[in-house]
Amino acid sequence: MSNDLEELSSKAAAEIEGATDPRVLEQMRVDLLGKKGRVTELLKQLGGMAPEQRKAFGEQVNRVKETLSAALERKAQQLGDAELARKLASETIDVTLPGRGEDVGALHPVTRTIRRIERIFNSMGFESVQGPEIEDDWHNFQALNIPESHPARAMQDTFYALDGSRLLRTHTSPVQIRTMKQRKPPIRIICPGRVYRVDFDRTHSPMFHQVEGLYVAENVGLADLKHDLMRFLSLFFERDAEVLFRPSYFPFVEPGADVHMRWGDRWLELLGCGVVHPNVLSAVGIDPERYTGYAFGMGVERLAMLRYGVDDLRLFFNNDLRFLEQFR
Ligand code: DAH
Repeated sequence: MSNDLEELSSKAAAEIEGATDPRVLEQMRVDLLGKKGRVTELLKQLGGMAPEQRKAFGEQVNRVKETLSAALERKAQQLGDAELARKLASETIDVTLPGRGEDVGALHPVTRTIRRIERIFNSMGFESVQGPEIEDDWHNFQALNIPESHPARAMQDTFYALDGSRLLRTHTSPVQIRTMKQRKPPIRIICPGRVYRVDFDRTHSPMFHQVEGLYVAENVGLADLKHDLMRFLSLFFERDAEVLFRPSYFPFVEPGADVHMRWGDRWLELLGCGVVHPNVLSAVGIDPERYTGYAFGMGVERLAMLRYGVDDLRLFFNNDLRFLEQFR
């Protein structure tokens, strides 16, 4: 073999052996065996040689070519294996490690209770409607047969705007008024929402929730009221509730009643109700000679406390996750 060829061969072999980077190795292959590679160039010289010289030289170059080609391939494989081993070592995933997880939220028990009440009444033909939380005196009191100087205003301690023109609704009953002003009977609605009173203790919160109900049509009376409320209560509590209707006074109904439910050895007040007072119908332009109706108003937190066995109303408003997470 010529000295040049021998030198090229052994130098290249050493370079290949010493390669550590696959990209560098690939460059070596191109430099040696590529179209313009050094070995390829040698093969091109064969054409200009004398035949006897050509055979020997050709064999030599071809041997070198094969040797280097094999060396390149071996090295490439070796570097590839090393790279894979390195990746496997550094990118190991520990599948036994516990996940970080996402905390899943849940509906507030008051929201759940409102939805439950709505679902039941909706199924009984009542449409849900909303009204504003900031009200005026007429909708919250006067139209409900509670005139300015009426002592019944003392039943509800009201948050007034400083200029006295507006107030935070003390009950959801004004939504009755707004709905009756907009629609003609028959009207069958429930109105869930927030209400506000100056009050705060174990069973009272300055903001709480009510659901108002109203059914106005021809020939609606106390019997309809009692039937529908009993039906609602047995669906809500999922048993035949033992219920007591006790006469009570609300200016916007006549007669009026409180509904109590047997709870252990006690009777608990659940809601107020009655037959809509003719003055209320007149105030909204509905003829009380032709139409009658019933109305009721229930405290959502009260119903939630009974359903979930909660004994302090304030728990619903403290946002303590230890409490709230029990309602998943
Ligand atoms: N608005 C009353 C309250 O907040 C509850 C109520 C009682 C609503 C009797 C009614 C009703 O519609 O007929 O205490």
